Amino acid sequence: MEKFILVIFGASGDLAWRKLMPALYTLHQQKLLPETFKVLGVGRMAMTDETFRAKTIDGLSQFVPKSKYSDEDARNFATNLHFQSMDTSEVNDYAELKTRLESLSDSLACEANYLFYYATPPLMYTTITHHLKAHNLTCQDSGWKRVIIEKPYGHDLASALELTKELSQAFAEDQIYRIDHYLGKETVQNILVTRFSNSIFEPLWNHNYIKYVEITSSEALGVGSRAGYYDTAGAMRDMVQNHLLQLLAIVAMEPPTTADGNAIRDEMVKVFQSLRKIKEEEVPQYVVRGQYTESQIHGETIKAYRQEDGIAPNSKTETYMAMACYIDNWRWSGVPFYIRTGKRLPTQVTEIVIHFKSNPHRIFAQKDGLTDAGNQLIIRIQPDEGLLLKIGMKVPGAGFQVDKVGLDFHYSSLTDHYIPQAYERLLCDCIQGDSTLFQRNDAVEATWKFVQPIIDAFANPRKNPIYGYAAGTWGPERANQLLAKDGFEWRYPCKNLASDGVYCEL
Ligand code: BG6
Repeated sequence: MEKFILVIFGASGDLAWRKLMPALYTLHQQKLLPETFKVLGVGRMAMTDETFRAKTIDGLSQFVPKSKYSDEDARNFATNLHFQSMDTSEVNDYAELKTRLESLSDSLACEANYLFYYATPPLMYTTITHHLKAHNLTCQDSGWKRVIIEKPYGHDLASALELTKELSQAFAEDQIYRIDHYLGKETVQNILVTRFSNSIFEPLWNHNYIKYVEITSSEALGVGSRAGYYDTAGAMRDMVQNHLLQLLAIVAMEPPTTADGNAIRDEMVKVFQSLRKIKEEEVPQYVVRGQYTESQIHGETIKAYRQEDGIAPNSKTETYMAMACYIDNWRWSGVPFYIRTGKRLPTQVTEIVIHFKSNPHRIFAQKDGLTDAGNQLIIRIQPDEGLLLKIGMKVPGAGFQVDKVGLDFHYSSLTDHYIPQAYERLLCDCIQGDSTLFQRNDAVEATWKFVQPIIDAFANPRKNPIYGYAAGTWGPERANQLLAKDGFEWRYPCKNLASDGVYCEL
C-alpha cells in the first residue's frame, strides 16, 4: 500500500473522535495501513501535535472495542498524528496547510498522496473544495488526491446537484468518495455474498416466489445532542434517502457481471432508477410519518421529541417514517418493499425480512392454528448479526402438524468473530482507491429524485399529518395499516418496550 497523508477537516469534532480515529487505530493495529503514514487533523482550535495526540488517545481508550485496545498500540499509532490550526473558511490559511503537507510528505519520503476527509458541517464542503483547488491541492500531477464527503449529501435534490457541480470543478468523479456508512457494514456486504455465492437463493429471488420485503432500522435512543441538525432533517433525510435505500438496492439489484466497483454500482443505480415515482398527491397512500410523544418506560419519564433541548415546541419533523416502495422492473413487479425507521422505538435493530409466498396447496395442519405464513429469510444487520431462515418442520408424534423453526447463523459463533466497524472498511478501501462501497454521483441523484416529491408533500401537514407514537413503542398505528391493507404485517423483533421489557432476538 502506498504511503499517504489523511487530512481530516473538522478533526476536533465528534465524528473524528468517535469513529474515524478508532477506525484508523484498528487498521493500524491490524497492519492494514502502511508502516508509516500521517494524519493531519485540521480545525480552528489552537492545538499542538502533542495535545491532539493526547486527546486522540483518550478517545481511543473510550471508543475502540475493549478486545482491541492497548495503551502501547495507541501511543504507537499516535506518533503518526499531527494538527494544523487554521480557519478553513479563509483561503489564505491554505498556503500554510500546503507548506505543512509538503513537509509531511518529505518526512514520509513519498509522493503527495493526499486524502481529504470533510468531517465538517456540510455548509463548509464547497468552501473547502474551492480553497483546496485555489492552492493546487486537488491536482494529481504528483501523487493521488481523493476526497471523502460525509452525509448529508445535500438537503434536497437541488442542493445535492449543486454540490456535485461544485465538487466537479476541483475533483474528477473517480477522486470523490461519498460515504454512506451502511455500505461499510460487514453484514450489508454479506447480503451480496449470500445472494450471489449461493445457488439456492437467487432462483427464488423474484416476484414469483417473494410476497413482500421488509427493511427495518430502529433505534431506541432519541435525538440526543443533535437537535440542531436533526430538526432540519427528520427521518426521511437522515435515514431513508441514504441508508435504507442503499439496503433496498442491495437486496433488489440484478447480479453484477463482476465484483468490480462499477459493475456493482451500475446495478444499484438501476434499482434507484426503477423505483416507482410517488407523486406528491399520492404520498398519504404510501408514506406514514410519526413523532415520538412522552411516555413512561420502566418508571422513567421519556420526554416527547418536542420537549427535547433545541427542538421547536411545535416541530413538524418526523422521527419515524414507514413507506411502501415498488420497483417497476421484470424481477420485482408487484412486490412491495416496506421500509421503516425511527428513533425512540423499543430497541436498536436493523434487519431485512424476505417473505416467501406460501405453497399453492396446503396439505398439513399448522400447529396451534398458526397460519401458513410462508418461509422467511431474516438478514440481521445489527445487533446479533446473522441470518435466520424460518422453515416448517413436522411436530413429532401422531399426524402431520407443522411448526415453524429457525435455521440460524450468528456471526458470534465464528471463532474470530470481530466484525470490523463500517469506517474501518471504508477508510481502508478509499486509501487503496477502491470505490465499490461509495456512492456514485448518479446514485445520489436518483435517490434524491425519488424522495423529493415526498419531501415536498411533507410541507403540507394537513394532507400529510404526523402521527404521534409513545416513546418506546413501534411507531404509529397507521404504519400497521400500510401493510394491513395489502394483507401483510410487520415482523416485530421485540415487543413494545414500555409494556414488555427489552429483548431483541434474531
Ligand atoms: C446516521 C444518522 O447516519 O446513522 C443517525 O445520522 C443514526 O441519526 C445513525 O443514528 C444510525 O447508524 P447505525 O450504524 O447506528 O445504525
